[in-house]
Amino acid sequence: MRRLVAETRLHPAELILPLFVREGISEPRPISSMPGVVQHTRETLRKAVVEAAEAGLGGVMLFGVPAVQDATGSEGTNPDGILQQAIRDTVAEVGDQLVVMSDLCLDEYTDHGHCGVLAADGSVDNDATLERYAEMARVQADAGVHLVGPSGMMDGQIGVVRRALDEAGHQQVGILAYTAKYASAFYGPFREAVGSSLRGDRKSYQQDPANARESLRELELDLAEGADLVMVKPAMAYLDILRQVADASPVPVAAYQVSGEYAMVEAAAANGWIDRDRMILETLTSIRRAGAEQILTYWAMDAVRML
Ligand code: PBG
Repeated sequence: MRRLVAETRLHPAELILPLFVREGISEPRPISSMPGVVQHTRETLRKAVVEAAEAGLGGVMLFGVPAVQDATGSEGTNPDGILQQAIRDTVAEVGDQLVVMSDLCLDEYTDHGHCGVLAADGSVDNDATLERYAEMARVQADAGVHLVGPSGMMDGQIGVVRRALDEAGHQQVGILAYTAKYASAFYGPFREAVGSSLRGDRKSYQQDPANARESLRELELDLAEGADLVMVKPAMAYLDILRQVADASPVPVAAYQVSGEYAMVEAAAANGWIDRDRMILETLTSIRRAGAEQILTYWAMDAVRML
């Protein structure tokens, strides 16, 4: 009876698996704060994306971890940089079976760990960063990505990326906009995952957890600038935001169950304090119920096994 009347169902095709690929390693490296998640080599990434396709996932979101970081995040726009290689590998393996997405942001590539380039006074320079994002969009699209995911929360980023793609002949490449992205402690383990040490904080460009209305304004702007999908992040502590955005959005709404959400459950489960599998399905179901139609989750493969 419960199955018959369930209002919310999870399906593998709406799950997106985030994957990390690191340059210059010969064995995958575990991420200690995210047990079960690794930094892949190019070879193990190939295997992981094939498994993701076989499991029927809707997509993968690729994050590159370069060997060298610098002030402007040069590797992010290197046509042969690790992310661009990973995109090419993934498209070659499974590009006809799932949606290949890539993180479009500089924090993995900068030595100061910010999502953009810095002005002389040390603050993040919004408009100089947009020029870097335009270039990143071009190289990622040249590598064959299907959807770029601008996650840096610079003002005007969706419009700039859309124009850059169109001008380079990549009209068919879509944009998954990180629309409502909060300055959150839940991203803690992600720092380890991408080898980033952040100087300062992201409060000058990510949203204040105290505020909801701003998310609807961000939604309006991203839609006007050309977003194809919009996203709320983190997920579980922001289900109210997700509901408001889902009610207002004419395009699909995704949510990102982030590294800290994963780490909390894994840590409690490792202590025997909670039932891990039930927790995974309950959190995903709740995110879905709150209005997300696609979910980025490090548990995508676990979830499919349980479903
Ligand atoms: C920015 C980016 C971050 C995450 C995804 N893209 C970090 C941040 O904004 O500080 C976090 C994802 C997670 O915590 O799982 N490139």
